[in-house]
Amino acid sequence: MNLKIAVLSGDGIGPEVTLQAKKVLQAIAFVHQHEFIFEDALIGAIAIEKTGKPLPEQTLNLCKNTDSILFGAIGDPKYDSDPTSKIRPEQGLLQLRKELGLFANIRPIKAYPKLINSSPVKKEVIEGTDFVVFRELNGGMYFGKKTTNDSGTYASDLCEYNEDEIVKISHLAFKAAQTRRKKVTLVDKANVLETSRLWRKVVTKIAAEYPDVTLECMYVDNASMQIIVNPRQFDILLTDNLFGDILSDEASVISGSIGLMSSASLGEKYSLFEPIHGCYTEAKGKNIANPIASILSVALLLEHFGLDVESKKVIAAVEKAIVNNVITVDLKVDSQFGTNEVGDFISNYILNEGDLYFKKDFVQLGQSTIV
Ligand code: IPM
Ligand code: MN
Repeated sequence: MNLKIAVLSGDGIGPEVTLQAKKVLQAIAFVHQHEFIFEDALIGAIAIEKTGKPLPEQTLNLCKNTDSILFGAIGDPKYDSDPTSKIRPEQGLLQLRKELGLFANIRPIKAYPKLINSSPVKKEVIEGTDFVVFRELNGGMYFGKKTTNDSGTYASDLCEYNEDEIVKISHLAFKAAQTRRKKVTLVDKANVLETSRLWRKVVTKIAAEYPDVTLECMYVDNASMQIIVNPRQFDILLTDNLFGDILSDEASVISGSIGLMSSASLGEKYSLFEPIHGCYTEAKGKNIANPIASILSVALLLEHFGLDVESKKVIAAVEKAIVNNVITVDLKVDSQFGTNEVGDFISNYILNEGDLYFKKDFVQLGQSTIV
């Protein structure tokens, strides 16, 4: 398969983790005789610095003319400490999601047996957790009208949804549930918000088209507690843009690190794959950032293009790295492995499949991983 992939590595640790993801895609291309062509483009704080805009036209045009997009991270603390700043790096990502119609953000949440003790949540609670957050990505409070008054004493963010926006993502969620444990949990705040009542009405109607799938509705305040006390109850968690943003970060503690969490953002025409973690500027250039979220996003990209064998191979290589403790310091405080080493291990594992002889001692010594 030939794929042209736009690489928007962005800010902070974005470039270094995306580099590992590219390595893994190159390994897959080599083993399976695909051709993946990468083209880099600017987004975020780095784009503001170089062009004055968080999403330069050139980047948007490239994204519209590629098969898919690999995204790194966005943000810079210098904007966080200046709430008056009119231009912000994050606008680049939000505009891109909107312009490309990426309405569904899919975030798998899993407890890895080997990392079960890395989570602050009790092992008995998280063991076997396996659910997927379907977060609406083009609407809600993120994109409603925003106002502030001249004296800066009042601000508002309008939360809006229309039926079509809810319908589109809901069908994807129900279809996904049909291939899994056949349960959709709609998370909303229908006891208070009009938009949530619309979600309930629309989703309940759609559920009738999927009689094999059970629909459950849960208030977001309760859901935020249930994710921690009983995460195994979830299969597909369907929710709006803001709730999905918050709950997916919360759910990431189950896996042990946000550095493991991948995501796919899908629209009718375009697709973008990105780790859910942010720019983590403090770690930039230190070779400590966990590249697994970015690498697992590559697995989602491959699956999206029907390359299931290749996708499974990436996941298996990541699991191999985890099982052999080839992991970064977020998962093992005294780990000697950095971003690069984890990326090398995973790509080498893919390249050397079949006749791989893995020497655990070497790994522990941090010398060589594959002989
Ligand atoms: C995410 C991020 C973004 C969001 C930010 C960077 C705008 O937190 O992808 O979850 O809020 O959607
Ligand atoms: Mn987020």
